Amino acid sequence: MAQTIEETYNYKVIRQFAIMTIVWGVVGMAVGVYIAAELTWPWLNNIIDVPYFTFSRLRPLHTNAVIFAFGGSALFATSYYVVQRTCNVRLISDKLAAFTFWGWQLVIVLAAITLPLGITQSKEYAELEWPIDILIAVVWIVYAIVFFGTIAKRRVKHIYVANWFYGAFIITIAMLHIFNNLAVPVSMWKSYSAYAGVQDAMVQWWYGHNAVGFFLTAGFLGMMYYFVPKQAERPVYSYRLSIVHFWALIFTYIWAGPHHLHYTALPDWTQSLGMAMSLILLAPSWGGMINGIMTLSGAWEKLRSDPILRFLIVSVSFYGMSTFEGPMMAIKTVNALSHYTDWTIGHVHSGALGWVALISMGSLYYLIPRVFGRKLYSLKLVELHFWTATIGIVLYICAMWVSGITQGLMWRAVNPDGTLTYSFVESVQAMHPYYLTRWLGGMFFLFGMLVMAYNIFKTVTSTNEMEINDRIPTVAAH
Ligand code: HEM
Ligand code: HEM
Repeated sequence: MAQTIEETYNYKVIRQFAIMTIVWGVVGMAVGVYIAAELTWPWLNNIIDVPYFTFSRLRPLHTNAVIFAFGGSALFATSYYVVQRTCNVRLISDKLAAFTFWGWQLVIVLAAITLPLGITQSKEYAELEWPIDILIAVVWIVYAIVFFGTIAKRRVKHIYVANWFYGAFIITIAMLHIFNNLAVPVSMWKSYSAYAGVQDAMVQWWYGHNAVGFFLTAGFLGMMYYFVPKQAERPVYSYRLSIVHFWALIFTYIWAGPHHLHYTALPDWTQSLGMAMSLILLAPSWGGMINGIMTLSGAWEKLRSDPILRFLIVSVSFYGMSTFEGPMMAIKTVNALSHYTDWTIGHVHSGALGWVALISMGSLYYLIPRVFGRKLYSLKLVELHFWTATIGIVLYICAMWVSGITQGLMWRAVNPDGTLTYSFVESVQAMHPYYLTRWLGGMFFLFGMLVMAYNIFKTVTSTNEMEINDRIPTVAAH
């Protein structure tokens, strides 16, 4: 007798991660909106006389929640889906897969408790203290076993390109996490880094930049290479380009970290190397973007009627935009203006909201109906989500460009006698309208996320079953 889909594949773990992506998306973005409000109306820091809700405590909570809880859960869900579908085989172990789900959720809950308490290593994106770091390492190694074990027992000879990107993301994050977090514990919740001074800074930004390159980029490119062709019902524009894209991207990213440390104690040649590698990075990044967008060639009209495809294609466009902006900001003379300003924050969110969040949302709108076997509740609500998210991003990043360049210019303006034209406080005051606009943009984006949560809730609780043919396992088009 033929096997059902549930018997062939492990969809349970995908369903769990997919739902938690939405839950953590709402939580992380709500915290983002709150800290944006704290920057707009600073009295919000002190409404009650406790330190837990101040900007300094909630900011790392926001970054950890959106990157690791929201983005991480989306990566787990989609990688488990893609590896099973393209290898035509069930995950190697249901128990280990379940361990990665519960282990990852535990990491997130521990982060949500320790960060507001002020327990931190003070390394950006690696704030969590050593006991949690060990748990992350264990979960990650099990994730690698499940992913690569599944690839090893695949029933399709070829390893589809999306799996290469997911694989590179899994291996590199393991390496970065372990080396950057080497530390000497002095108590249960306090440790000191194994590195000192400028080495510590270099290791941190080798980690930090490659967290961008591999956590926020390579894994999501895996999503692009599976879900764009699927939703567009077209093969990847150039499979050969996707292979060149893969090798060029992973080779170049790993050298670019020093652009975070321009004009610091880091040796000058290292800064210049980081700058040169960042400029070179434009080429593979745009090669990938073109490959993603051109997958639509011959089917452009679908963009008019399919809001899910619009999520995917607009996200790839934002990927192109932020990977053009990044190399420009890595040029030392440009960085002299942009560093420490809101321009960086705008760049971050054009990548984070425009690329990471939109591609995750588009992929989940494709994936959730299939793993739950239910028709999507409302395409109109997807359309509403698309527009509110897009308006939110545009408001956010335009406000940050203006405020960032204003800050940079105000800080460097000098009078003929050499004194500063503006005091720092004057630059803070000048930011108010832009912070208000960013907060408004954040509200739009969060509203869209809530619309998605409602739409998905109605989808998974409905009895409107999806056609079995739409759920039948196939190998990705290439
Ligand atoms: C409703 C949506 C969001 C809002 C309103 C928001 C707001 C904020 C605010 C106010 C900050 C602090 C800026 C500062 O220190 O001056 C911040 C930082 C940050 N956010 Fe968001 N955020 C949102 C969504 C996201 C998402 C989805 C991601 C990632 C996938 C993300 C990633 C980050 C990162 C990496 C930083 C640190 C940037 C840096 O240090 O340069 N945010 N966000
Ligand atoms: C070719 C690709 C890219 C290059 C060369 C690049 C370059 C840069 C540069 C020069 C900075 C400012 C460093 C500073 O002045 O402190 C920066 C910051 C940042 N970028 Fe990019 N970027 C790229 C793509 C992306 C993408 C696609 C994302 C997100 C998905 C992203 C996320 C970030 C984040 C989170 C930061 C802030 C780091 C911090 O906390 O200081 N970048 N990037």
